[in-house]
Amino acid sequence: MATIELKQVEKKFGESFAVKPLDMTINSGEFIVLLGPSGCGKTTTLRMISGLEAVTSGSILFDGKDVTWLHPSARDIAFVFQFFALYSHLSARENIAFPLQAQSVGRDEIKKRVKEVAQMLKIEHVLDARPGSLSGGDQQRVALARALVRRPAAFLMDEPLGALDAEFRESMRAEIKRLHIDQNATSVYVTHDQVEAMAMGDRIVVMSNAEVQQAATPTEVYNNPANLFVARFIGSPGMNLLGGTYADGVVRLPGDNRYTVPESWRGALGSSLPADGRVVVGFRPESVSVHAAGEIHSTTFANDLHGGYTMLHLQLDRDHIVHVRAGREMRHQINDTVHFDIKPDSVRFFHPETEKALQNGRG
Ligand SMILES: Nc1ncnc2c1ncn2[C@@H]1O[C@H](COP(=O)(O)OP(=O)(O)OP(=O)(O)O)[C@@H](O)[C@H]1O
Ligand SMILES: [Mg+2]
Repeated sequence: MATIELKQVEKKFGESFAVKPLDMTINSGEFIVLLGPSGCGKTTTLRMISGLEAVTSGSILFDGKDVTWLHPSARDIAFVFQFFALYSHLSARENIAFPLQAQSVGRDEIKKRVKEVAQMLKIEHVLDARPGSLSGGDQQRVALARALVRRPAAFLMDEPLGALDAEFRESMRAEIKRLHIDQNATSVYVTHDQVEAMAMGDRIVVMSNAEVQQAATPTEVYNNPANLFVARFIGSPGMNLLGGTYADGVVRLPGDNRYTVPESWRGALGSSLPADGRVVVGFRPESVSVHAAGEIHSTTFANDLHGGYTMLHLQLDRDHIVHVRAGREMRHQINDTVHFDIKPDSVRFFHPETEKALQNGRG
């Protein structure tokens, strides 16, 4: 277990930032997910933590000790990549034992530790096989076993499930989370898949354009996105976002709609918006109640049955469609008129220029 601190850590390639100055503390035993679209700097951040990439400036501390210029092998970390490279001429057992042999651990100790980790990952039955004859899932388990066998203080993973099919991903996700808990290791996990991030992270660090957009628990990131980027990126589909104009407790929305702003938000809207009152109203698909007396009117553009629920696509006008999650019995004919309300506890507001979430003083 280790606490990892990043202080003003940055990385430039030539003149362009791969990672802008970043401050972050990863607590001992925590499972942190770095989440963001391709090219946002996730891998570079992870590689700087591991020591595989030199920082341009800033410092990295493990348990308070400055490791910024320490070689990766001196950092007591294990690294798992998406494209795991197992030695094809060695058996699974020999692959797993390899890092321990490199550290000159004794024979009996190696035997014991390989057995333990193989039990944990349920790969005892494939230990004598060569990687080439194993399924993708078992190959990835062997790669994980090889990383875990050293009992590192920190475990760094870069899209380790990216190469697996959907079904395997889901079961391996749970296995990795479980391993993390059992091992009590500090884990940093990189993915561009927000579902994976939500499922696995104690905290999610959302990145875009070489910068952290928000670092918070999955619930917080989902319920209170810090800005429009996070609101769009998290959730499938993301938060509904409608541009409107605020005055006197009411936002004018597309399609000649009026939305009465909850009392608790009026102070914030009155004081933080541009002079013309422009605002972005945000709400999750499930934060809506559909009923005949609803304030907002729309027409049905489409409805998708998802087994357990129906996703309504409701059109406010030609250019504005919102997604609304409704009971599975709720089906409408195309072009039917639908009225709905946004649940007052769940509505969010964003500044149209800074794109930041407004705060209503209740946190
Ligand atoms: N060795 C390098 N030389 C030059 N530019 C680089 C190098 N490595 C990364 N970059 C650039 O730094 C930025 C961040 O890259 P990084 O690989 O960290 O992104 P990522 O978030 O891991 O993306 P992905 O999801 O595609 O893996 C990108 O613009 C990338 O092109
Ligand atoms: Mg990457």
